[in-house]
Amino acid sequence: MWTNLAPTPEDRFTFGLWTVGWQARDPFGDATRAPLDPVETVHKLAELGAYGVTFHDDDLLAVEPDRERAIAAFRKALGETGLKVPMATTNLFTHPVFKDGAFTSNDRAVRRYAIRKVMRNLDLAASLGATTYVCWGGREGAESDAAKDVRAALDRYKEALDLLCSYVIEQGYGIRFAIEPKPNEPRGDILLPTIGHALAFINELEHPEMVGLNPEVGHEQMAGLNFVHGIAQALWHGKLFHIDLNGQHGPKYDQDLVFGHGDLKSAFFLVDLLENGGYDGPRHFDYKPLRTEDAQDVWDSAAANMRTYLILKEKSKRFRADPEVQEALAASRVTELAEPTLAPGETLADLAGEEFDRDAHAERGYHFTRLNQLALEHLLGVRG
Ligand code: GCO
Ligand code: MN
Ligand code: MN
Repeated sequence: MWTNLAPTPEDRFTFGLWTVGWQARDPFGDATRAPLDPVETVHKLAELGAYGVTFHDDDLLAVEPDRERAIAAFRKALGETGLKVPMATTNLFTHPVFKDGAFTSNDRAVRRYAIRKVMRNLDLAASLGATTYVCWGGREGAESDAAKDVRAALDRYKEALDLLCSYVIEQGYGIRFAIEPKPNEPRGDILLPTIGHALAFINELEHPEMVGLNPEVGHEQMAGLNFVHGIAQALWHGKLFHIDLNGQHGPKYDQDLVFGHGDLKSAFFLVDLLENGGYDGPRHFDYKPLRTEDAQDVWDSAAANMRTYLILKEKSKRFRADPEVQEALAASRVTELAEPTLAPGETLADLAGEEFDRDAHAERGYHFTRLNQLALEHLLGVRG
């Protein structure tokens, strides 16, 4: 009955080197795991059925400090396994030089260094076939409203992205940028804190068509926002270029749990949306194996992300195929919303004199509880 739960490259599952490679250093404690060789990660991910791997420039140097040698070993592993690199990104947050940000640091020389650092990794990303370049501005922000002129910071953020877009065009790289919003952590407040802020910012860029989003489950949920709604709006704008899947328990620090190990009902509706809403990019897991876990647990947790996604995909199919669900959707008039409010050829004048029994429409229930319960019962395994 549950036969197709083994991931294959067709599922397009991808992982960042920094996810399984996280050594679990936190603000209160030292690393609990040894560094992972990216070569081993590539081989393990391929064995587990992943499609691809993603990286920050600095992730490649985890065990081999010589950049050229590290790149050569990574390339070789990719060749041996067939694993793809659909996305790459830049570490603009670990080194102390970025303590006040990268593209928006008050220090102009730091801003210039940050742009150079991105350009160098864009060259590598393009040579590995990446088509998406993520910009997560974890250090772009402030702890005090006196410390950052936010309007000037947005000018500089725009300047950096405009320059990087022109670089990609000049070089003929087939790469688009994806901004990853986050409300806070590590900065007290981060610029472009939500999907909505980032969408509005993109409209002000020189090349808005080259810039979209890489939303992360936990980042919207940290702000108490509905991730499924955020993704639906990103899709509506044609801006869902990439996605970071993980788990989070509501507004608290960024947990980066295994996908589905946070708000499971939201994860179900998210998979349902991704599978039916026209998203065809990679399903990228950006999670951190728990600090308590050992080396083997890390790989088990990587597999858990993919298995949970596939379970939810199957649940979504069964939910939609259930005749009672179809009947409930119709009774709740969910599909009626797709019908334009004015019929073709109608004008506002047609609304003016229309008869309308306000009390009757006010009295009618929408039966949404029944729909929600049906979804829950599918999820709990008592239906389908
Ligand atoms: C976080 C972020 C980061 C970024 C990644 C890309 O957990 O706050 O998700 O993991 O996605 O570093 O730059
Ligand atoms: Mn996160
Ligand atoms: Mn992320």
